[in-house]
Amino acid sequence: MKKDLLSLLDLEKDDFETLFKRAIQLKERYARGILDTLLTGKTLGLIFDKKSTRTRVAFETAMIQLGGHAIYMSAQDTQISRNEPAKDTARVLSRYIDCLAMRTFDHALVEEFAQSATIPVINALTDSFHPCQILSDIMTIIEYKGGYKDVKVAWVGDGNNVVNSWINAASVLGFDLVVACPENYQVNPRIIDMASLEAKSNIVFTNDPKDAVKNADVVYTDVWASMGEEDELSKRIIAFEGFQVNKALLSGAKDDVMVMHCLPAHRGEEISEAVLEDKNSVFWDQAENKRHMHKAILESLILGN
Ligand code: CP
Ligand code: NVA
Repeated sequence: MKKDLLSLLDLEKDDFETLFKRAIQLKERYARGILDTLLTGKTLGLIFDKKSTRTRVAFETAMIQLGGHAIYMSAQDTQISRNEPAKDTARVLSRYIDCLAMRTFDHALVEEFAQSATIPVINALTDSFHPCQILSDIMTIIEYKGGYKDVKVAWVGDGNNVVNSWINAASVLGFDLVVACPENYQVNPRIIDMASLEAKSNIVFTNDPKDAVKNADVVYTDVWASMGEEDELSKRIIAFEGFQVNKALLSGAKDDVMVMHCLPAHRGEEISEAVLEDKNSVFWDQAENKRHMHKAILESLILGN
């Protein structure tokens, strides 16, 4: 039966481990000039209803380097924008392509596609989740810290799609996660309810960023207004006072703290220029790893490994 990747709760712990190992292996092999063209003749379709630089290009290059092809479709240029039902589009595309990556506002739309498609559907970001991002981010943590199990991750920022996927990951993998959001921008309780009972003890919620970063190995942030929320930015800048990841906040974290951001970053808002431009920063490796992780995901879903 085909598998989809709509949220990280679709994966078992072993699936995570397999993806981390394979992505790291594919990265090493690519660096040595070895081309793994296991997806020759296969086609990935991408339907994006929101902007993207990294995710789109990482998926397209991943597919090309694996010997396949990618077709990018802006949702506006498809019949979806003229109300063709998701179930019809999904059934038709399943006759042309081998896998579909989607970036939408409403998560329910990706779920609807997955239900009707006979090919794997990948969530390339919805308002609710960004699973592929967190897979490549944990890959980066493994590269820098040697593993993720004993790592304390602190989220400082909005209770958005990216932290939701962090909560899903902590729920399955069991690492410590502290989530600090301003009072009116907290994680949706539905997402917390989805976490396993066991995981709930590893995941702590607070409104105090200083408390969250204490002894953190990783401090993660993201924009204060996500795509679709741009009109709220000025209101949010006020509400998020004290939540900027800057050198002063990081002084409370471990000395070798790793600061992460999925990018794009807004300098002077959720992160300071000095932190973003720090010579030891990992942001660019984080972005690179999306390509390698996307390869591992595509290989696994398309070949059914
Ligand atoms: N991190 C991320 O998803 O970036 P894009 O929006 O550029 O794809
Ligand atoms: N939370 C951000 C992530 C962008 C990669 C957004 O949804 O816009």
